[in-house]
Amino acid sequence: MGRPTGYDIASFGLMIECEPRMAVYAEALKRAITPGCTVIDIGAGFGIFSMLACKYGAGEVIAIEPDPAVELIMPMAQANGCANKITVIRDISTRYTPERKADVIVSDIRGITPLFEHHIASIVDARTRLLAEGGRLVPMRDTLRIAPVHSPRHYQPCVRPWLTNNYGLDLSAGHPYAVNLSAPAQLEPAAFVAQPASFATLDYRTIVDPNVDATVEFVADRTDTVHGLLIWFEAEIGERLRFCNGPGEPPLVYQQKFLPLEQPVRLMAGEGLTARIRVQMVDGKYIWSWDTDIAPGAQRAETLRFRQSTFKGAVFSPDRLRPHAHDQVPQATAQMAIDAACLALVGEGRTLEDIAVAIMERYPDRFGDKMDALGHVTKLLESYRS
Ligand SMILES: C[S@@+](CC[C@H](N)C(=O)[O-])C[C@H]1O[C@@H](n2cnc3c(N)ncnc32)[C@H](O)[C@@H]1O
Repeated sequence: MGRPTGYDIASFGLMIECEPRMAVYAEALKRAITPGCTVIDIGAGFGIFSMLACKYGAGEVIAIEPDPAVELIMPMAQANGCANKITVIRDISTRYTPERKADVIVSDIRGITPLFEHHIASIVDARTRLLAEGGRLVPMRDTLRIAPVHSPRHYQPCVRPWLTNNYGLDLSAGHPYAVNLSAPAQLEPAAFVAQPASFATLDYRTIVDPNVDATVEFVADRTDTVHGLLIWFEAEIGERLRFCNGPGEPPLVYQQKFLPLEQPVRLMAGEGLTARIRVQMVDGKYIWSWDTDIAPGAQRAETLRFRQSTFKGAVFSPDRLRPHAHDQVPQATAQMAIDAACLALVGEGRTLEDIAVAIMERYPDRFGDKMDALGHVTKLLESYRS
């Protein structure tokens, strides 16, 4: 079983109210579905795409979702007369083995951008294992876009309270971290200091690599201060069925991604800025790196270079890192002994309560009462559910 995503019912509701996202998905599904076909809905939430697939003529729908929202799928499907067509899988798609491959796979498991957690890996797995020959993927393709932008408002968290604050304190040690953090944004085209460009196309019908490494060159088309790089995407859900979360488009649930510059830079019209964007999957999470070179110009005799990364935005504690060193010799603790005793009782056909009582009797100094021991056992076993 998978873990809850953290989306609550209101968040799932906002996704359904998010237009034109929903209308475009619905139309793409309608066009992709043939009477009686099999559909897999990856990241079904409470089953909105599954129910639409039934409405448009699917014969069978597999709704896959690890979040507890999945419990609403059947009541909702019953209310809409399609419960007999939907099978619910309470897990992530990469652990699901289908009886029959799907004619259509629908998903929206992006974050602010499509480079989000295991999105690409899940799509690659779904395409190779779950999709029938000639089957359709909805969405089809996303294109990542970028522009240098003027936005003092979005730059404010890089400045305050680190470089100036209401209390006259020197908090500047926080500044190098703050300028290496990305933030959600919602900007208009008036913020562009140079024309936007595409820097990666994620074609789900062929994609294999979850990482992106691209360099884009910009020329300022007006004189202004650049505060950061703005990232967004253009989604092609089906042929000629698109939506976009970029400036000038209706605001969508995804928002846009703002990558601040190490310091704001004044560009004169015609001056150049080069951005290298690397987005790399490390241990199940993406690290965004943005290298910016600003060519010599009226304000600078030499190229200005910034080397930024969300990795540099994280504060690491040596105490937390040391145990990961390969030459560390781990020490046994009392806590490990208790956990080992708990785990040894698992598989003997005992209830959680039995295990808790046994542990409490063995370690009376550690547990105040049975509820305390029960809490410990359930939490320990929960950590084994990925
Ligand atoms: C943004 S919600 C989408 C909900 C609904 N399909 C919609 O578009 O309105 C994404 C959901 O995908 C789920 N998810 C992400 N990766 C998944 C995977 N590989 N298999 C199954 N569910 C996944 C998450 O738990 C989350 O609930």
